[in-house]
Amino acid sequence: MRTQVGIIGAGPAGLLLSHLLHLQGIDSVVLEARSRSYVEERVRAGLLEQGSVDTLTEAGVAERLHREGLAHHGIELRYDGIGHRIPLTDLTGRVVTIYGQQEVVKDLIAARLAAGTHSGNPPILFEVEDAAVHDVTSDNPRITFRHDGQDQVLECAFIGGCDGFHGICRPAIPDLKIFERVYPFAWLGILSRSRPVSEELIYARHQDGFALATMRSNTISRLYLQCTPEEDINEWPDARIWEELHRRLGVGSELEEGEIFQKGVTPMRSFVCETMRHGRLFLAGDSAHIVPPTGAKGMNLAIADIRVLARGLERFFAKGETELLDRYSEICLRRIWKGQRFSWWMTSMLHRFDGNDPFEHRVQVAELEYVSTSKAAMTTLAENYVGLPYEV
Ligand code: FAD
Ligand code: DHB
Repeated sequence: MRTQVGIIGAGPAGLLLSHLLHLQGIDSVVLEARSRSYVEERVRAGLLEQGSVDTLTEAGVAERLHREGLAHHGIELRYDGIGHRIPLTDLTGRVVTIYGQQEVVKDLIAARLAAGTHSGNPPILFEVEDAAVHDVTSDNPRITFRHDGQDQVLECAFIGGCDGFHGICRPAIPDLKIFERVYPFAWLGILSRSRPVSEELIYARHQDGFALATMRSNTISRLYLQCTPEEDINEWPDARIWEELHRRLGVGSELEEGEIFQKGVTPMRSFVCETMRHGRLFLAGDSAHIVPPTGAKGMNLAIADIRVLARGLERFFAKGETELLDRYSEICLRRIWKGQRFSWWMTSMLHRFDGNDPFEHRVQVAELEYVSTSKAAMTTLAENYVGLPYEV
């Protein structure tokens, strides 16, 4: 098989890249290790920056997002049992939207399968095994893989390494420049059939650990609790989860207990691979960077990388220009590091750190008091939360 851009991974990054390229008449094939139903049901992020919504809208894949997404104009920070509203829209003129990552993935898969490819190749191959990249520093890179029991080769001009943190593209690059921090806690996340605690998200700092109340719709709540990275989910029966959520959120009867139909533990990590390009292999999204989820930046950073990469490839195929591709890492890394800083800061401000002494504890509370009372500090939080402007 031959295509212009071979893409590994059908997460938000790989699918959006394939879709944006298609709109510019550029052919691509997406190779995904998992099944279609697996990637469409995988519960992950849920908050889109306004720029991400605008990107999906301009790309013509946001019809359901506009119908079902929930626009939010503020968030609440809670500490010492009291809530403080950060009026995002009043401070920035922008909104954020709650729409599950798996819904974005479903919309993009539907669009890719409906449009097909210019070459007649299948747009996405699911359940691909043993994908490996070859000759990425030549003009003719290749991806080898197995599908339906057959060994296959995808020849292409470029490879999009959109295969997430545990993928094969990053390890294929020599001499990686990596920066990393692992946190001594994780999040236990649930989905529950219950009315959201409030119209807006609540980020709660509590002496027993952080809690976040968010949602997927007016009838489905998404709730998170700080826990240990080794947490055994079996030790968290529903009653314990609700008890802990009641204590940490401190919102009384506003927290409605419903049927819990999904539970999972997400470890927390900050990670940047500054080597985002090796020859004709480009890393985008989680394959190049991971943030702790507190700032809701993971999926948004993936979308921002793809905007730059798609534009760069477009200019290459239209005019033979390489200038934007050459600046890909540099442009993306400026945004990635700001996203890293914000996610690290939100995480540090809101979580319980077991090793902290009373001094650090007081500083953490002072920071929360400052952020929730100073307009300048609130604006700093708000402009990062709704998403900084794009360079490209
Ligand atoms: P991914 O979505 O990881 O997609 C990569 C794709 O590549 C996957 O479909 C994978 O199956 C495929 N793949 C991997 N290896 C191969 C291979 N060898 N061959 C072929 N295909 C391969 N962010 C938030 O902002 N808030 C959250 O609450 C949040 N929760 C999260 C919970 C979990 C459990 C995880 C893992 C992440 C979470 N994130 C969250 C982060 C956010 O979901 C990611 O930033 C986002 O998924 C990045 O998109 P991506 O396309 O780069 O990677
Ligand atoms: C969601 C997750 C986050 O990490 C966050 O900061 C906000 C919202 C969510 O899953 O809805």
